[in-house]
Amino acid sequence: MNILLLGSGGREHALAWKMAQSPACTKLYIAPGNAGTPAYGENVNLSVSDFEGIKAFCIDKQIDLLLPGSEEPLVLGIYDFFGADPALQHIPVIGPSRSGARLEGSKAFAKEFMLRHNIPTAAYREFSEANFEEGLAYIAAHTLPVVLKADGLALGKGVVIAATHEEAIAEYTEMIKSAKFGDASKKVVVEAFLTGIEMSAFALSDGQHYVLLPSAKDYKRIGEGDTGLNTGGMGAISPVPFADTAFMKKVEDRVVRPTVAGLAAEGIVYHGFIFFGLINVEGDPFVIEYNCRMGDPETEVVMPRLQNDLLDLFTAVKHRQLDKVTITEDPRAAATIMLVSGGYPEAYEKGKEITGIPAPTADQIVFHAGSKADGGKTLTNGGRVLAITSLASDLQQALAHSRETADSISFGGKYYRRDIGYEFS
Ligand code: AMP
Ligand code: GLY
Repeated sequence: MNILLLGSGGREHALAWKMAQSPACTKLYIAPGNAGTPAYGENVNLSVSDFEGIKAFCIDKQIDLLLPGSEEPLVLGIYDFFGADPALQHIPVIGPSRSGARLEGSKAFAKEFMLRHNIPTAAYREFSEANFEEGLAYIAAHTLPVVLKADGLALGKGVVIAATHEEAIAEYTEMIKSAKFGDASKKVVVEAFLTGIEMSAFALSDGQHYVLLPSAKDYKRIGEGDTGLNTGGMGAISPVPFADTAFMKKVEDRVVRPTVAGLAAEGIVYHGFIFFGLINVEGDPFVIEYNCRMGDPETEVVMPRLQNDLLDLFTAVKHRQLDKVTITEDPRAAATIMLVSGGYPEAYEKGKEITGIPAPTADQIVFHAGSKADGGKTLTNGGRVLAITSLASDLQQALAHSRETADSISFGGKYYRRDIGYEFS
């Protein structure tokens, strides 16, 4: 099978690493990839939103499967683009249709969908220019803190948790009246704040059936103890200690199955990963958000613990036969620690030479996230630079092993969180 994977982050490196292990993998291309991905395939200089370029490449290289790693091409409708083109129709795209990608692309759509299908989520109302004044009154009477969410994609910055009514009203006004996040904040979801520990669950759906992948928890804040600015993710662990069989049964019964069935009942085509951002409120799962792709850095712990052949899973998606698949998980714990550039998630420098990356072993692999090759050197090329994933019989050992390697890798301005997994120590 010839495969084209779209993206350039740690998630894509982990997906490339996993797919390359499959006997069914003939040739793997990664567009655009990073300095780590050529170990498992060939990097291609194409942007993930250049659909015409992707089309020409798929025809030229006789691609048999397209895997978009990030939400961008999915929200832009790459699934539909392939389905509508006679030259591309035979190529399965692992992901939702543009309509299905609204689960991530529109918070308002996701909330309405959950309401229609009785999926537990925070109580909310939706506001826009049309009912702006009503929103002011709603916020003024809301319990604190109150959560405001720009409807559309806002580079992960569209969620504000306001501690006072004044702050909430100022944010709300800026979002709608001053288009703080452009078109993304023309509509705003105002919702109740939920208290609990967050985690991520992942399903792969063929439209009728689904399989659940290993659970994970990511750490979004830049600072230790979950302080400071939000980032793309500073580390992750899998499995999640509190996500035991009983909790995951609630997740399947109340969230995953109703989501897959709801999409099918509404005629929304979805043949790909569904990421459930969950919060555990006193033992009950609530949905904080959906994403229409795998998580990053969660993929860097989920893929190493998934024992199934990933291409077998994608083939089952293509034939709508996921009901015939049983997922097996590595019983070991996995932890990943992200090395980031100094200054991230605010301004940071790129182009620093990276040294000391160890070769993969049976219990550790360093995934590249923001790196690029320059002659014989490897340079930093993003805020998140490397994800160091370790596997061990318990979480603390996996974390210790990743920290050890985090210390032995060097680049100018390197920073990482030493407390990933702190709640479970
Ligand atoms: P989102 O972009 O929807 O994932 O929101 C970003 C982050 O804001 C989440 O990961 C949560 O930490 C937090 N958050 C969002 N909605 C809520 C909520 N209703 N209650 C508590 N925290 C929330
Ligand atoms: N780690 C969160 C995300 O991928 O959106």
